[in-house]
Amino acid sequence: MAQHGTQIAKVGIFTSGGDAPGMNAALRAAARNLLHEGREVFGIIGGYSGILERNFQPLQSRSLANIIQRGGTILKTARCLEFHRPEVRAQAVHNLREHQIDACIVIGGDGSFAGAQAVWQEHEYPMVGIPATIDNDIFGTDSTIGFDTAINTALEAIDRIRDTATSHDRIFIIEVMGRDSGFIASAVGLAGGAEEVFTPEYPMPVDQLVEKLKSSASKGKKSSIIVAAEGQKPGRAYDLAEQIRKKMGLDPKVCILGHQQRGGPPTAADRILATRMGCAAVQLLTTGQCDVFVGVESGKLVAIPFEAPQRNKKLAPKDYVQLASMLSH
Ligand code: F6P
Repeated sequence: MAQHGTQIAKVGIFTSGGDAPGMNAALRAAARNLLHEGREVFGIIGGYSGILERNFQPLQSRSLANIIQRGGTILKTARCLEFHRPEVRAQAVHNLREHQIDACIVIGGDGSFAGAQAVWQEHEYPMVGIPATIDNDIFGTDSTIGFDTAINTALEAIDRIRDTATSHDRIFIIEVMGRDSGFIASAVGLAGGAEEVFTPEYPMPVDQLVEKLKSSASKGKKSSIIVAAEGQKPGRAYDLAEQIRKKMGLDPKVCILGHQQRGGPPTAADRILATRMGCAAVQLLTTGQCDVFVGVESGKLVAIPFEAPQRNKKLAPKDYVQLASMLSH
């Protein structure tokens, strides 16, 4: 594990990548913990772009009031593609050092962690990560901040759609987020009693779904919910519906849940996780560790090297997909 020898007097905190409910709770915990220890804290507005624009705002305990329950991120966020370039990273480190910001805490996903790792390797600038993404797809941690809220939001929508699907004897294809990952789809597919679940990790031929729908219909089933991740292989939900239309002559309705899954107040589980992780990140940074993010393994907080998610892919639970299919007969 990398160790830095920097005296930590001033810390920058930023959120990066797609927002996730609980980012504010993580910020509040990390910043207040640092302030409590007598250190200075700067909120960096707009992720890595904010470092390049020198958008550093001093944070006091009062500026963090009433945010634990708020979705989104008060620090704003962005996907900063420029940061893939080494000269841009050099400029970022220059800006941070110029403002005497000794180290940073980055709250985001594995793309954000890759940037932080490069900054340490190229410039020995200390950073520690807090994993936050609704996709839950960061290798090394059982959970990420925002996932629990997102699946509860999606599940509530699915339950509502089920009411109308049952009333009209309809088939619904509900698309949930997850461009590269089926965590949301598999979790809400299982919890929402889906007929089948389509994920990027475990591609399923449409013919298998068609056979299932025919067999279910022959047993008297009149309505079905199919959950599909954004990035599943037969294509987006409308493509799936079109294929079912062609193969079965049925007219499935499509509902794309979209960005509502990213917003809203974080659940209790996400607030607790974010608060614990925020304080653990401070502990790591102030005891000389860096090039790591805080993970949770079987309930315990651990330090995971930034490189772990760059080298390994975390796959959605296949058994959830199989159980959902088996139980919907
Ligand atoms: O943050 C993760 C995620 O919500 C993915 O599930 C989704 O594919 C992507 O972000 C959407 O990103 P954007 O909001 O930039 O379109």
